[in-house]
Amino acid sequence: MTAPYPLSPKELAQFRWQLNELQEWAESQAHRPSAKVGLLADCVGNPDVGRTYLVPSVFAIWNGDKKWWPVMGRQHSDSRFFGFEAQHYHVDMRFLPRLKIQCTALFECDETDPQKAFRKGVMLLSASPLQVNSELNQVGLHTPVPRRAKCQSAVVDMAAYRDFSAKAQAEMAATLPPAKRGDDGHFICPHQGFSLKQISPDEQGQLVCPLHGLKICAKSGALS
Ligand code: FES
Repeated sequence: MTAPYPLSPKELAQFRWQLNELQEWAESQAHRPSAKVGLLADCVGNPDVGRTYLVPSVFAIWNGDKKWWPVMGRQHSDSRFFGFEAQHYHVDMRFLPRLKIQCTALFECDETDPQKAFRKGVMLLSASPLQVNSELNQVGLHTPVPRRAKCQSAVVDMAAYRDFSAKAQAEMAATLPPAKRGDDGHFICPHQGFSLKQISPDEQGQLVCPLHGLKICAKSGALS
């Protein structure tokens, strides 16, 4: 466990113990694959809207609720490009109700147009991932376990987030190496190693990473 903020050795030992307990409990709550519900990890391309998958999930406090949240990729910090030090996961917004995303924009910035609220909500929630800090999830975040969740949208619309973080996007595209394919033949985002297996190319032939919006050419792996 990486301490998210200065902790005394006693606090650190206590948090480690609590995190181990939490991990054990989370694993006891994992859902098993069945004939009807398979792992999202086995899906190739965008998931099907309306279908239920076993999605990596973390039990934690986020966006005002303590519950299971579907997450994408590994736990990380983004100090290099985004100046964001806290350890965090990105919530997989493909498995959040559209209304929840829209309500975030409604409450945060009074956006009432449904389409604009959805885009703005994705931006706000991407910029405020599920994290460890001095007030939230202090003991740390457990490793995700598979839980049933219904797909609400096939893609995470990162357009507003890319606009919001244009400088970081340009820096990532200019300094990171092109994406390489993993052992399964699918591209891996060179930023935080996220597998793009469950992402279909957009109309421009690009894979848009749903964590921070990096665009990757689906043929060559070039970044933009
Ligand atoms: S993991 Fe950050 S853009 Fe892909």
